[in-house]
Amino acid sequence: MVLRKILCVSLGEHSSEMADYLRTGDWDVLPVADLAAVRRVQVHQQVQVGALLLKDFSPEKMGWVEACLRQSRGIEWVGVFRIEALNSPILRELVLSYFFDYHTLPVDWRVLDLTLGHAFRRAQLRGRDVKEAGAAGSMDMVGHSLQIVRLQQQIRKVAVTDAPVLIGGESGSGKELAARAIHQYSRRAAGPFVAVNCGAIAPSLIHSELFGHERGSFSGATAGKLGLIEAASGGTIFLDEIAELPLELQTNLLRFLQERTIHRVGSTRSLQIDVRVVAASHVDLAEAVAAGRFREDLFYRLNVLALVVPSLRERLSDVPVIAQHFLQSCMADKHRLRVEGFSREAMAAMMSHRWPGNVRELYNRVQRAVVMSDERLITPADLGLSVACNPLGIGLDAVRTLAERDAISLALGRVGHNVTHAARELGVSRMTMYRLMDKHGLALGAG
Ligand SMILES: Nc1ncnc2c1ncn2[C@@H]1O[C@H](COP(=O)(O)OP(=O)(O)OP(=O)(O)O)[C@@H](O)[C@H]1O
Ligand SMILES: [Mg+2]
Repeated sequence: MVLRKILCVSLGEHSSEMADYLRTGDWDVLPVADLAAVRRVQVHQQVQVGALLLKDFSPEKMGWVEACLRQSRGIEWVGVFRIEALNSPILRELVLSYFFDYHTLPVDWRVLDLTLGHAFRRAQLRGRDVKEAGAAGSMDMVGHSLQIVRLQQQIRKVAVTDAPVLIGGESGSGKELAARAIHQYSRRAAGPFVAVNCGAIAPSLIHSELFGHERGSFSGATAGKLGLIEAASGGTIFLDEIAELPLELQTNLLRFLQERTIHRVGSTRSLQIDVRVVAASHVDLAEAVAAGRFREDLFYRLNVLALVVPSLRERLSDVPVIAQHFLQSCMADKHRLRVEGFSREAMAAMMSHRWPGNVRELYNRVQRAVVMSDERLITPADLGLSVACNPLGIGLDAVRTLAERDAISLALGRVGHNVTHAARELGVSRMTMYRLMDKHGLALGAG
């Protein structure tokens, strides 16, 4: 039997009748008394269906309800309210936008149970769609900047070919993530993705690691071994830190790229292998060629399709949304719910930092902050950053992003966190307002 989890939210007044009835069926009932708690439950549990018993439908309450419904993505909601509630235009709009169905009081619990069952099946279908789209859609690459959008477009283009790709970019900027996205978007997506860090394998072992060896081919080779290139057959091999590959191996790799065949160490037999090569380097390979450390012919062979992952400092406008993304994943791991977001000072400090370690550094700092923070909002000290003391030095991009965040946060504060009113005040649509709140990691109440 599939375990069907349901959130039973009764707002305004305590009511356990609905939860008690559903428990008698095969629902795993999670009772919640306010919508903010819905978000907290969602961090830890995969819930597909929600029943929302709404007794208070005043306009102020509706603002909160809408914000929370919008944030509880993936849940199919069924509303329960008095028939008069439908006289409220706001509630009607909510029902049409966010609800799978609704029932009016007094409720026939058996019929409600049936509706919830339908909602559950629909959520399951949607879940499958999201999974499939997620595998090929988001690329796990968080960010809205022009630079990241352009990179995603380039990835989609190179993914459909079979030519080698060379990915450049600073350490920690997301080169492996880009390589994985190329694989996911290619016809090879169902095949293996094998990542090899050429700098991390001892030069004496790298030949047999990549190409494999036959039994007895050298002392200690008591059994034959499949090489990583062979292991990636039908898929993609990602050669990270390719500049570290010894010159002798560069020759072998070039031969593989030209002939699509390999020789295991100790074997004269050539094996035909169907593998796509994606390579990455944080050092400039053209310079390595000029210095005689990298074969020119291999460089040209690899450089047919070249992508550069921009450094985080070149796309500071992505910092808030990536930071928020990491915050959420750290909290889900640690079951720590106290931290709600970043303080304005923390955001300013992040926007003025130079990020030498790029996205990996941002991840490490957020992870540290979640552990260190004693407050609701993360401070610059929690992140190990100093307060931005020179706003003039932080660049136009960062200043713009901070100003936008401030405007949104202040407007929300002024109108008691009513998104509709704040959007009106700022002269943007409600959808734009929600998109901006997502971008700046401004959940209702935080910031
Ligand atoms: N746009 C992004 N959104 C979310 N996570 C990201 C993004 N870019 C990078 N990351 C994460 O940051 C970390 C570093 O990324 P990755 O390993 O791809 O960098 P890299 O360029 O290969 O680094 P190195 O040069 O050190 O090998 C990973 O945990 C990755 O998932
Ligand atoms: Mg890497």
